[in-house]
Amino acid sequence: MKYSLPVDIDIDIEYIKMLFKQNYAHLFEQKDEYHSYRFIAIDIKEDVGLDDISDQLDSPFSVQRFFRTRANTNGPIHIDCNRATKERREWAINVPLFNCDNSYMEWFDHDDFGEFSWWPEAGFIKPPQDEMDDFELKIKPSERIILESPMLVETKSMHRVYNLDNPHDRIIYSIRGDNSITYEEIYERLANG
Ligand SMILES: [Fe+2]
Repeated sequence: MKYSLPVDIDIDIEYIKMLFKQNYAHLFEQKDEYHSYRFIAIDIKEDVGLDDISDQLDSPFSVQRFFRTRANTNGPIHIDCNRATKERREWAINVPLFNCDNSYMEWFDHDDFGEFSWWPEAGFIKPPQDEMDDFELKIKPSERIILESPMLVETKSMHRVYNLDNPHDRIIYSIRGDNSITYEEIYERLANG
């Protein structure tokens, strides 16, 4: 697969699931956009062993988030960016937590929206709001995966969560890669390591 690769990382998924339920589920529900959202991100403050993962992948991680996609809804097509610098993010490691088996992560062979709108809270760029529906009907994915285990994912091309057929909110844990290593470099390293 061009845009994704399973990765063998030692991570305490049960602890992260517990953390979501105890400390974060209610934070999502308190957000203003909770009743209208398609996709919400919340940064994680607790130590979940990022230093260990950084050692395992020989790459420092600093940003970790929960992503929640609404039931029976597709997340918006977007490209990940650094919220501060607006630089595109090369890659991430995504880990399934809840209700990921009836959904896909999809990529599109496109990396230019032309005009785009900035979505600072999630750190995304996406098509302008009034063009979004047309845009999403026009382009077709070239790759899709079910997130069944931790995966390296490319985040600098257009992608989205397809969650239309899932009757539950889909929740993942995501750590954002170090941009001094390109997606292609980390892919090579992990595929051959
Ligand atoms: Fe993304």
